[in-house]
Amino acid sequence: MNQDLLGRVALITGAGAGIGRETALQMGARGAIVCVNDIKEELVIPVVDTIKDRGGKAFAVPMNIASREGIRDAIRSAFEQGGGRFDILVNNAAWVRYQAIPEIMPETMDRMLDVGFKSVVWSLQEAVAVMDPQRGGSIVNVASVAALRSAANSVVYSGIKSGIMGITRAAAAELGARNIRVNAVCPSAVPTEGTQRNRDAARDANRIARTPLGRLGTVEDIARAICFLSSDDAGFITAQGLTVDGGITLTNI
Ligand SMILES: NC(=O)c1ccc[n+]([C@@H]2O[C@H](COP(=O)([O-])OP(=O)(O)OC[C@H]3O[C@@H](n4cnc5c(N)ncnc54)[C@H](O)[C@@H]3O)[C@@H](O)[C@H]2O)c1
Repeated sequence: MNQDLLGRVALITGAGAGIGRETALQMGARGAIVCVNDIKEELVIPVVDTIKDRGGKAFAVPMNIASREGIRDAIRSAFEQGGGRFDILVNNAAWVRYQAIPEIMPETMDRMLDVGFKSVVWSLQEAVAVMDPQRGGSIVNVASVAALRSAANSVVYSGIKSGIMGITRAAAAELGARNIRVNAVCPSAVPTEGTQRNRDAARDANRIARTPLGRLGTVEDIARAICFLSSDDAGFITAQGLTVDGGITLTNI
């Protein structure tokens, strides 16, 4: 595979499963020194081992990133284990519940915000502190097509992902002078461990029928877009949300 991320130190949050795990594997194959984060240590180790088995470099960063201290410690650990540099951050971790408006509870909303929103803001403080202004860096936030179009039972999720787009633009405006690019990806529904409980065959068939490219997305599709935005090929791209959805979001009028 193209070694376009050779030697770059990359932290991917929530990389024990789904989109995050595939991003870690692809970055490892592209030469990055991959710091694999997840709250579940038992998920982190196999990802690290797989990257190493394939000839790549990886470290385990098993931590809960859902607090200012948590994401700070994860980034510092990546910086130290990566030999004193830090180049790529992928804010991917999320904890998600879809609830009708009357059923939204303070505990679920707080946890969704802590993992999927506040940690992204806190991550910026620490990333800025450790990214070298000469080399610059890349931050990719994993948003969703739910930032662009919304369905029922997703007030909190859609609100958070819309907010992620705002954070992405504002951070790009503020950090461009430090040569730090900040972008987002907006995936449509992709089969992962996390989405398993909300999927069924009829709903998938309906989605596929409405998707111009005629299939569901895969974790590989999303990870490739994240790798692209993290690479020098995207060197003049910042403040963007790249929709990776087979065309479903902007069609079907
Ligand atoms: N899969 C989809 O259809 C889809 C679509 C659009 C956007 N997204 C977004 O993509 C991202 C990844 O989704 P996925 O489906 O791969 O998720 P997933 O649930 O399969 O994996 C998420 C991982 O994050 C970890 N995690 C949760 N809380 C954490 C914490 N506090 N600290 C560290 N790790 C934590 C989990 O343990 C899990 O391994 C999320 O931001 C999600 O909102 C997913």
